[in-house]
Amino acid sequence: MTLRFLTSGESHGRGLLVVVEGLPAGLSLALEDLEGELARRRRGYGRGPRMALERDAVQVWGGLRNGRTTGAPVGLSLDNAEAALWEPALGPWHNDSEAARARRITAPRPGHADLAGAVKYGHEEFRDVLERASARTTAPRTLAGVLARRLLAELDVDVAGAVDAIGGVLVRLPEDDEGWRTARHSSLGCAFPEDEKTVEERIRAAKEAGDSLGGTFVVALRNVPAGIGSGVEWDRRLDGRFGAALLAVPGIKGVEIGDGFAAAGAEGSAVHDEIIVRDGRWERLSNRAGGIEGGMTNGCDVFLRAAMKPIPTLVRPLRSYDVETKKPASAHAERSDVCAVPAACVVAENMAAWVLASAVLEQFGGDTMEELRARVAAHRERVARWLL
Ligand SMILES: Cc1cc2nc3c(=O)[nH]c(=O)nc-3n(C[C@H](O)[C@H](O)[C@H](O)COP(=O)(O)O)c2cc1C
Repeated sequence: MTLRFLTSGESHGRGLLVVVEGLPAGLSLALEDLEGELARRRRGYGRGPRMALERDAVQVWGGLRNGRTTGAPVGLSLDNAEAALWEPALGPWHNDSEAARARRITAPRPGHADLAGAVKYGHEEFRDVLERASARTTAPRTLAGVLARRLLAELDVDVAGAVDAIGGVLVRLPEDDEGWRTARHSSLGCAFPEDEKTVEERIRAAKEAGDSLGGTFVVALRNVPAGIGSGVEWDRRLDGRFGAALLAVPGIKGVEIGDGFAAAGAEGSAVHDEIIVRDGRWERLSNRAGGIEGGMTNGCDVFLRAAMKPIPTLVRPLRSYDVETKKPASAHAERSDVCAVPAACVVAENMAAWVLASAVLEQFGGDTMEELRARVAAHRERVARWLL
């Protein structure tokens, strides 16, 4: 079975929509699961005023009944509080409206999709590109990921995330379950409250300077069964699929699995995870591989790290060119996030859940959650004692 989703909607259009197909029947889901994760996506000191504006109330279109999936496609929608460009009679792109005129973008922003997208689609208005390049489109993606995360939770797989560094300020990573929980509920994704203060200071300084920041974060998938994914063909490799999903989050420019780039500078004996058998089960003495070998899960927790570049929209803009005046100009500036690393971490957690849930369903199938749960439990038992 293949799990798939499509999204539709613009940042300042009527709203956003996602249709998820391929989920087994019987997966329980509460509206709070969805809205709670969207609230986490709005989190973080240094976010733009839009975050306070959006309520992100989820409406169910189909596929759910009495809090459970029915096996039919799940449709979910979100209204935009800020639908200034939406005019039902004319469509969201009615350029003659006052609101649209006030929002025209004529000088593309370095680092954003403005110029590349306008060239590609022949748009004369950069806003036509921005509306879909905007990070608001990560909201429906997050919803799809929450469904995947719920499915994994029913298979006893936990997905967690934490911020690792912001603007060069290092943050301590969680050391235990309690740490992951604290990071989950921290507005800046920090496992230690003292680190929140340092990070907030760093963001405040960038904000005051009219600048923006990026950073790194980690996503951990814990208690993952061994043998998920495949190494027999390039596009089946789970490391490649995680990489693609995380790199597709706007602003993400690098992804590591396990020790990643650091392993490239070390010797093999200091990198690879030794194998032992204890109490009749396979074990590893370390997990520097980040839980994936040969494109497959190896039974250790999966660790992914992603790097986000600084936000492209700047209060003190960089040089650009105005396509209306045909003169050099400062790039378009509008209210924007100064730093969105903690929010990007939430989107990435849910996309990582999506990748793993997709691979699990491809491997085990099942029309109902009951079937899927039984198949995964039998697999866990079989691989733990394989050849011993
Ligand atoms: C959660 C989140 C929030 C973002 N907020 C902004 C923002 O307020 N302003 C902005 O210019 N870019 C923001 N970005 C980044 C841009 O969406 C991104 O840089 C742009 O679409 C170009 O894509 P690229 O950086 O992947 O090349 C955000 C990204 C994420 C994931």
